[in-house]
Amino acid sequence: MPEAEGRRPRRIALDGPAAAGKTTVGRLLAQRLGMRWLDTGILYRAVTAAALEAGLAPEDEAALMGLLARRPLRVVPRSGSPLDLTVTLGGADMDRALRDPAIDANVSAVARHSALRTALLEPQRAVAREHPVIMLGRDIGTVVLPDADLKLYLDASAEARARRRLRERLARGEATAFAQVLAATVARDGKDSGRAVAPLSIAPTAVVVDTDRCDMAGVVAHLLALVARWPDALTTRGGRAACGLPLPR
Ligand code: DC
Repeated sequence: MPEAEGRRPRRIALDGPAAAGKTTVGRLLAQRLGMRWLDTGILYRAVTAAALEAGLAPEDEAALMGLLARRPLRVVPRSGSPLDLTVTLGGADMDRALRDPAIDANVSAVARHSALRTALLEPQRAVAREHPVIMLGRDIGTVVLPDADLKLYLDASAEARARRRLRERLARGEATAFAQVLAATVARDGKDSGRAVAPLSIAPTAVVVDTDRCDMAGVVAHLLALVARWPDALTTRGGRAACGLPLPR
């Protein structure tokens, strides 16, 4: 059920590192606000899945651009849940297998290419032009929607994020050790922050929310409180607002 009407941000950027809880939090926040939501990581994951299926190297940008020319990427509502957006490539639903370990291992190499990132800007921006949306990613507040109404940056220590990923993997019955998940988390951070094009970085006007002290429901409640304050100084000019601590005045 959407919250009571009022003046609301129409385009919310929700950025942050891998496993900061963006997907869970973004979905719940969108449901509470009655807004569409798009996890932009699935664009890069869908291209990676199609490339691996076609036997293309994730490092070969020209081949990936050829793939996108043959199979254009579209952002579409998920059937049966119109607030939830997904992607098709050449009309084919790419949802299955997007979270496979093979995609995890190759997606950073795909997301590094600058022409590919440029080609994926328009489908993302088109979504934001058409409907109120929460867009999740790494570069939404900095590159994709630099004029987003509200920019949120979810942060958490590498240890807290690795603990979350470990719980998810164990729940899926995968055998994994904490040290391995932590090492993979730190390696992904390095790749996402260190790349030349659209690196993970915090927009100057973003509100940085440290989530270490909260569970997902707590983070959602905290973000709803920030949305309710918009457009005040904190939510338009940026600052830090750790979850589990009182919001700064
Ligand atoms: O959030 P995720 O794990 O699904 O992201 C998959 C990859 O895509 C990861 O390497 C970061 C990259 N990505 C990106 O570069 N820009 C985005 N807006 C979203 C994800």
